[in-house]
Amino acid sequence: MSEPDAEIVQFDNVGLRYGTGKEALTDISFTLYPGRFYFLTGASGAGKTSLLRLLYLAQRPSRGLIRMFGTDAITLPRERLPGFRRRLGVVFQDFRLVPHLSAFDNVALPLRVAGVAEREITKPVDEMLDWVGLADRRGARPATLSGGEQQRVAIARAVIARPDMLVADEPTGNVDPEMALRLLRLFESLNRLGTTVVVATHDVHLIRKVPDSLIMRLDKGRLSDPTGALRYPPRSTGPGGDSAPAAPDPGSGNPGSGAAPLGFAPA
Ligand SMILES: Nc1ncnc2c1ncn2[C@@H]1O[C@H](COP(=O)(O)OP(=O)(O)OP(=O)(O)O)[C@@H](O)[C@H]1O
Ligand SMILES: [Mg+2]
Repeated sequence: MSEPDAEIVQFDNVGLRYGTGKEALTDISFTLYPGRFYFLTGASGAGKTSLLRLLYLAQRPSRGLIRMFGTDAITLPRERLPGFRRRLGVVFQDFRLVPHLSAFDNVALPLRVAGVAEREITKPVDEMLDWVGLADRRGARPATLSGGEQQRVAIARAVIARPDMLVADEPTGNVDPEMALRLLRLFESLNRLGTTVVVATHDVHLIRKVPDSLIMRLDKGRLSDPTGALRYPPRSTGPGGDSAPAAPDPGSGNPGSGAAPLGFAPA
């Protein structure tokens, strides 16, 4: 059933209103395709977090249709929600680490939930902590970490189990530019392994670093589509490019200091 270009997410005339206020999101229609890299931009208050909350199924829309992984996400029976969520990696704007768990155990959580054997957890988690520069903080609880350190733990946790879709809300908002690039490389590595990536950010420098990325822009709750890729048929992405998801390209884009640690493959 999964054609190469089958959509992973489809929004059709989605609206979201909190309480009795005005709509935070209005007439949102777009399609996300597997294996693409999307940036979601827009001013503070434009609705980025609201849109991502719909994407990671933390919020139901007030109106409209949402399909995800080929299924109507709005009428999804409650018992199927955990299965859907396991296919998503989420970096929350406010991190949401588990406070009583160490950095190591926070990052290990998705692997443990997926039933990965303990002996297969230590290596990938340590490699991931090393990549995000926290090897020496593996035993630390979130309360003893800086904002940027917590953010890096949150990112490591979101990518460790190689989800089908990564949704990241301002994931580099608390780190310096050098670390932001390193984290971006991690997202790109995950993307090359086939994960659809959606990153909300204000940072135009970050966006420029991913040349094939597609851009969704929110303005006061309305979506525009500057790269022309959100509606069918998707825009071609470069010379010889077609609408198929980008295949791993061993000849380019390798991080200078080795590939990001995503060798772990869920059984
Ligand atoms: N839980 C809520 N209850 C009521 N209004 C909300 C709630 N969350 C967000 N809003 C409103 O919805 C609008 C969009 O907010 P949202 O958090 O999605 O913006 P954002 O683009 O993520 O902003 P930022 O860049 O500052 O994170 C804002 O007007 C905000 O005040
Ligand atoms: Mg936000």
